[in-house]
Amino acid sequence: MARIYLSPPHMGPEERQLLLEAFDSNWIAPLGPMVDAFENEFASYVGAQHAAALSSGTGAIHLALLLLGVGANDRVYVPSLTFSGSANPVAYCGAEPVFLDVERRTWNMCPMVLAEALEEDARKGTLPKAVMVVHLYGQAAEMDEIVPLCKKYGVPIIEDAAEAAGTLYRGRHVGNDSEFGIFSFNGNKIMSTSGGGMLVGSNPELIQRARFLATQAREPAAHYQHEVIGYNYRMSNLLAAVGRGQLRVLEDRVAARRTNFNDYQEQLGALPGLSFPIEPEGDRATHWLTVMQVDQDVFGASPEDIRLALEEQDIEARPLWKPMHMQPVFRDCQTFGCEVSEDLFANGICLPSGSALAADDRQRVIESVAAVAKAFS
Ligand SMILES: Cc1ncc(COP(=O)(O)O)c(C=O)c1O
Repeated sequence: MARIYLSPPHMGPEERQLLLEAFDSNWIAPLGPMVDAFENEFASYVGAQHAAALSSGTGAIHLALLLLGVGANDRVYVPSLTFSGSANPVAYCGAEPVFLDVERRTWNMCPMVLAEALEEDARKGTLPKAVMVVHLYGQAAEMDEIVPLCKKYGVPIIEDAAEAAGTLYRGRHVGNDSEFGIFSFNGNKIMSTSGGGMLVGSNPELIQRARFLATQAREPAAHYQHEVIGYNYRMSNLLAAVGRGQLRVLEDRVAARRTNFNDYQEQLGALPGLSFPIEPEGDRATHWLTVMQVDQDVFGASPEDIRLALEEQDIEARPLWKPMHMQPVFRDCQTFGCEVSEDLFANGICLPSGSALAADDRQRVIESVAAVAKAFS
């Protein structure tokens, strides 16, 4: 039996055709017609006004921070339960990430913790330069509560929607409720260009500035004039071709991942001790990864027991992201709360969630998890 992977890439004939078109046109270098088209098509899909195609989601976050003027010794709020790609760019700017706890309902930044943190920092005169909201595992954060709080204190928001292409919050795409939204097209994402990212926003000058910074901040002079530090963050024309193809099938990919989730929830959710996140009304979680919570006392086995048992069956599962405040590299950073992040991490597991996961493979996963319950009873 073939190995079942957590979230492998899922390419089709459209992507192949567009890639060959780009290849045959000899537009290999960064920039080119595929990049322009991908930016326009992606912006139109998510309902953004402007978009810049970049080499990674991490690069997109870095540029968003720079465009908001984040620099040495500034503070930026980041939810603790996330991938390091959210927090690392804060450090690239010489700023300090401050880790906030998440809420149980969405697993994203807790508005109550955010309110406390902003109030305390306003009192102390140490308000953050930006708040980074993450839409984790394809579930939107509670923006209707977060946005007014940040507005009250005049702090801009970056939405890290790296894991949330196709995610809807109250019926609209994430990434537009803030100064900047960023998306990732890393190899394991719901749509992939092997590696890549997108920065979206409503201010055309700032998005143009992002494109400029991403091409080594090269001034328009034949001799390559440079007046500020730049970066090599642009997406290549070849990869943009793949992205255009992936975008065309994104709605199908969302449907497939939601089918994975529904099937897991229906069958595994019936077992004592296993539970799944509840989708808030009006939202569409993509379930980029299906995440399951394990009540170890009731189920009898821990998430790690389940992971190891699945591994024996050649099935790849994974713990949740280890919270950032628990990472040695960020151990000196300030935190607000973070108990919920720790608890979700300790009791959670990500199940195979690829959009090409066949029904019988998914059944194999379900039966393997059910077998763990029996083995430990
Ligand atoms: C939440 C989150 N933020 C940022 C990133 C960084 O994106 P990239 O890998 O494209 O740099 C990722 C994914 O890789 C992510 O999951």
